Amino acid sequence: MKREIEVTEKQAAFIKTDADEVFFGGAAGGGKSCAQVIDALFFAYSHAGSRQLVLRRTFPELERSIVPLCRRFYPKEAGKYISSKHVWRFKNGSLIELGYLEAEEDVTRYQSAEYDVIRFDELTHFTESQYLYMLSRLRGANGFPKQMKSTGNPGGVGHAFVKKRFIDDPDAVVNGRRFQFIPSFVRDNRFLTEADPGYEKRLSELPEKERRRLLEGDWNFFDGAYFSEFSPAVHIVKPFDLSGYTRFRSLDYGLDMTACLWWAVDAKGDMYIYRELYESGLTLSQAAERITERTPPFEDIVYTVASPDLWNRRQESGFSGAEIMYSAGLTGLIPADSGRVRGLRRLRELLRCDGGTSPKLRFFEGCCPNLVRCLPLLRHSDRDPEDVAGEPHEITHAPESLRYGAMSRPSVPEKGTPAPSERSFGDPFAKDADDGAPSYQYLYC
Ligand SMILES: Nc1ncnc2c1ncn2[C@@H]1O[C@H](COP(=O)(O)OP(=O)(O)O)[C@@H](O)[C@H]1O
Ligand SMILES: [Mg+2]
Repeated sequence: MKREIEVTEKQAAFIKTDADEVFFGGAAGGGKSCAQVIDALFFAYSHAGSRQLVLRRTFPELERSIVPLCRRFYPKEAGKYISSKHVWRFKNGSLIELGYLEAEEDVTRYQSAEYDVIRFDELTHFTESQYLYMLSRLRGANGFPKQMKSTGNPGGVGHAFVKKRFIDDPDAVVNGRRFQFIPSFVRDNRFLTEADPGYEKRLSELPEKERRRLLEGDWNFFDGAYFSEFSPAVHIVKPFDLSGYTRFRSLDYGLDMTACLWWAVDAKGDMYIYRELYESGLTLSQAAERITERTPPFEDIVYTVASPDLWNRRQESGFSGAEIMYSAGLTGLIPADSGRVRGLRRLRELLRCDGGTSPKLRFFEGCCPNLVRCLPLLRHSDRDPEDVAGEPHEITHAPESLRYGAMSRPSVPEKGTPAPSERSFGDPFAKDADDGAPSYQYLYC
């Protein structure tokens, strides 16, 4: 029995293209995932013995979107699905493997694999390094065309690299490799507009940022930056004399990275980050020593707020991280309020500068380079738009430290915020002005 699979005009363009790397998408509901599974089927039929890989970021997403679409479009008589291996095996010897790359290291599962076509569905959910690694898995001496075929919407952790790779120059040729961008919109997908005429209207009623992202596929409006209020021109200031300011520190400790920030607060509650320690591979005692070494004795540090897991007992020694740091000379440690979304909201409030008012939180120029590098790189999480994406992991340490510091400040409690715990030192800022301190600029950095 001959079965016809109908496709939209845009899906046909995606299927027919012979570009080396293609990106299909823009808006939601344009028929992207269907295009991937239908195209994979056509390729499997026309290239007997071929190998393809279809990727989603997480396993549940794969199970919810790609697997059911394959079951819907792949004729039973053509091949079968081996669910334990997530592989469609066709009678002509072709394979379509379904996979996911949740963590950055998941790419190593494909270390020795070779594919003719690799398909990323929702490419903006992946990181650039995952994409580049998988590009190296595109090989084989069978003479079949080798292509990277991806789909996705604006936003997400991969927004910036996808925009640069495909959108900014839609038909680029680089070192002989051809790139192509095929924009798609809901209106291009007659299957959806006919089955659910209200869908486009629902998208048009979303808040502006989401509407421009999902309905209009606007790559410029939405760059996915979490702290959209961060602007170097406003938030970065030339170092000045901090004598009289109250000082404290915030710390995100990890063997992979220790991120410690030095804060100064004036009588109005305006805050400045004037120093950072950003170093990997430090043990707890080494981190404690480095932090104290970098703090001149005249700087009266009221407290150092750190992630609460530092108070968990370590298996090796039986002591907590906080105890080990205390023994190494770092006193005044207090556990942070580590509620992520609450802390991120507080940070946005501190960075906001509506109507020409100055932000409450600013950074000394040249004194905290890693913090000001990482802050604008943070992206919205795809799972919870109020949260930040956890990847790339490297850029999260300094902002975590900043969040702990921000939450250690007294503030009008938001609705639903738990009362300050007994762990806090009350108002750590109620202290006399720090006078007589030398004010050499170099001491700040
Ligand atoms: N070629 C097609 N044949 C039949 N239905 C299709 C086709 N393309 C898309 N659709 C329908 O449109 C809906 C949205 O398509 P999908 O590929 O999931 O969009 P996207 O991945 O862009 O959000 C699907 O659930 C499917 O019902
Ligand atoms: Mg989809």
